[in-house]
Amino acid sequence: MSKNVIFCFSGTGNCLDIAKNIARGLGDTDIVMMRRAPAVRDVHEAERVGFVFPCYAGGLPGDVEKYVRSLFVSAKAYTFGVVSCAGYPGVGLAKINEIIPLSYHAHIPHQSACIWLMPHTLMFPPLTPEKAQKRSEELAAKIAEDVKNGVRSEKAPSAPLFNRLEASVWPKLAPKKAAGFTVTGKCIGCGQCAALCPKGNIRMVGGRPSFGTDCVQCLSCLQFCPRQAIHMGGATEKRERWHNPNISALELNEKIIHVD
Ligand SMILES: Cc1cc2nc3c(=O)[nH]c(=O)nc-3n(C[C@H](O)[C@H](O)[C@H](O)COP(=O)(O)O)c2cc1C
Repeated sequence: MSKNVIFCFSGTGNCLDIAKNIARGLGDTDIVMMRRAPAVRDVHEAERVGFVFPCYAGGLPGDVEKYVRSLFVSAKAYTFGVVSCAGYPGVGLAKINEIIPLSYHAHIPHQSACIWLMPHTLMFPPLTPEKAQKRSEELAAKIAEDVKNGVRSEKAPSAPLFNRLEASVWPKLAPKKAAGFTVTGKCIGCGQCAALCPKGNIRMVGGRPSFGTDCVQCLSCLQFCPRQAIHMGGATEKRERWHNPNISALELNEKIIHVD
């Protein structure tokens, strides 16, 4: 195990790109993915342990809370949390802080991944993808410096009431949204969507993806589809796809990524 460990969830690659940029600043870092159950849970020998994840409906994505509860982190470790969001950071950092107290926390705004709700460029405040990416890289470099210098956040992460409510209803809404997935004739049956799905919710049937409702709404299937053949409701037909330009579907599916 490396000196630094970052646990990362990412749906469209922003958070994995952020985790990699922080790791480059720190050196000797294992990025352990949390899209599925993490391949490593006992990190008590790591000196610094970080969490990088997106805000989903004001809260934590997927099974991240469950996975964080299962980790073994030394009480002596320096811990940090970074949330990426399109508009507001939500309560994810506060939830992790309740489980593993965070020495330091920060947020990085980036392009919106929630294509059925709004176009990716409509992050708040609006920014072009290029400018948002540049800002994300600058903020990640600053966070890496802070972490190396052992900077501690003065206040605990906030947990606004609205975000707490939003996050509490989301697990019921996400499967209902999943019932809206459709596939067009552009599908080439490559199976990438099924391979990516963190819940195993997509099965290839007769060379075409078939969707269940055990879905966390990471939207990796839709956003990384090489033919833009996957839709969710009418809005996604007109909207451009977004995934972080530095992250491929293959990399998103890794279990552990080492950065020297
Ligand atoms: C299902 C879903 C819900 C989201 N909810 C929020 C939200 O409540 N607030 C917000 O600011 N951004 C929200 N976003 C935007 C993501 O947090 C943002 O795009 C993030 O950079 C995505 O990171 P990723 O590319 O690593 O998945 C949401 C995205 C998705 C897919």
